[in-house]
Amino acid sequence: MATRTRPATRRRSAARCRRCRRWTSSVVDRPSRGRGPLSRLVALAGAVALAAGLVSGCRPAHPPPVAFHAEGQPESLSEWHLFDMADGRLELNERVLPYDLNSALFTDYAHKLRTVWMPEGTSAHYDANEAFDFPVGTIISKTFYYPRIEGEPRDSQAVLRSQGHEGQLPGGQLELDKVRLLETRLLVRRESGWVALPYVWNAEQTEARLMRAGDLVPLTLVDASGSREEAAYQVPDQNQCAGCHVSDLSTREFQPIGPKARHLNRDLAYPGVDGEAVVANQLAQWQRMGYLDGLPEASAVPRVANWQDAAESVDARARAYLDINCSHCHSAAGPGNTSGLWLASDVSEPLRLGRCKLPIAAGHGTGDRRFDIVPGKPDESILTYRMISTDPGVMMPELGRSVTHAEGVELIREWIAAQHGECGNTG
Ligand code: HEC
Ligand code: HEC
Repeated sequence: MATRTRPATRRRSAARCRRCRRWTSSVVDRPSRGRGPLSRLVALAGAVALAAGLVSGCRPAHPPPVAFHAEGQPESLSEWHLFDMADGRLELNERVLPYDLNSALFTDYAHKLRTVWMPEGTSAHYDANEAFDFPVGTIISKTFYYPRIEGEPRDSQAVLRSQGHEGQLPGGQLELDKVRLLETRLLVRRESGWVALPYVWNAEQTEARLMRAGDLVPLTLVDASGSREEAAYQVPDQNQCAGCHVSDLSTREFQPIGPKARHLNRDLAYPGVDGEAVVANQLAQWQRMGYLDGLPEASAVPRVANWQDAAESVDARARAYLDINCSHCHSAAGPGNTSGLWLASDVSEPLRLGRCKLPIAAGHGTGDRRFDIVPGKPDESILTYRMISTDPGVMMPELGRSVTHAEGVELIREWIAAQHGECGNTG
């Protein structure tokens, strides 16, 4: 197991000068480029600078820079130096940029902190439809956590079932007494392609360890009104990552799913130099940081809806929900391609979208319903049946949840209820 692990908690908060060292100062200014790729040497220099900071008081405290491991599977998350635990917070290291999506994947109501980091002098290349083309060295992280319930003991299984942003501060910091960290997943871009690494947080919440075999975490989800629901939260094993991230069966390569123009095209609050939050479009911010090139004019960039935003049309919200939750499998090239059901937001052919579409297999997985979507009739549609189910042989998505996403199902029901027409007797 871990031979050169380092505890994630480093006690040096007294000597920190928080504002001096954040990427956030670049909300307006593009940082200077040109430093070579990271190396152990740079990490060492960082450690020396840190020691100097400790002696001289409030100087820019330089935690060791992010470490891109070009090979191997580091046993501890802290070996990547993406995060820093200080002052009761999980903070992001320099140039580790938080991002959010217009609509996100449902995972048993877990909250997620997503970050991206690229070596200095490199950038991702823009694409209008597919995931951006990221440079070798890119590290994308997704940390799954739940807000804690006030007054519950720290080791309690009970966590808050909510869809807000409790526990997360602008800039992607997490308040450790308010959240329960479960896992951090990494996608790392190496010469040979993307590698997927699952890390699971320890009970002390000080470190996350590589868990190739996944994990099962029993939880009780408690909503604001006090109603409780048991969840068997599943950390996928390393092979299961491919079930969703190999979204093109012809190449069999891992791909990121979220960092596409249409999902990232939204505003995010970034902490500014003076501590005030600065709201900026994420893609513009990536470009300012040197993380993105080839970005066209704002009006030419696609965008999907936030499925929770009642101001958007039900159609736009439902299509955004199906895009991020289903289309990595349900596309012409994806692992769900045999179904003939395509669910990305740019699909326009009604049959492809499931309207009056006969399922490829009858029986168990259909709930004795005839079509994927029966216009106007959510209760007769296979789509809702499989979204409601928690039976592993029936449920959709096939992986990644143990409870039903009530609000997501409600939206899809509303979307189907608003559709007109008859399916006829074609089946
Ligand atoms: C059920 C399908 C599914 C499985 C299984 C899955 N992922 Fe993902 N993952 C997604 C989707 C969809 C997104 C983008 C949406 C989001 O972040 O909410 C995503 C996002 C990510 C991201 C952020 C970058 C990106 O691609 O958007 C990382 C990192 C990641 N996953 C790593 C992993 C690892 C490691 C595993 C295996 C332990 C894994 N994932 C298993 C569906 C899955
Ligand atoms: C991890 C990959 C994966 C994800 C994610 C996924 N599906 Fe599927 N889906 C499949 C596969 C594979 C099939 C074909 C085998 C089967 O019917 O179980 C399928 C079949 C279906 C069918 C039957 C379609 C037909 O015409 O035969 C429906 C309906 C469906 N999925 C809905 C969804 C919805 C809605 C979502 C998102 C909320 C979703 N799926 C997410 C893999 C996936």
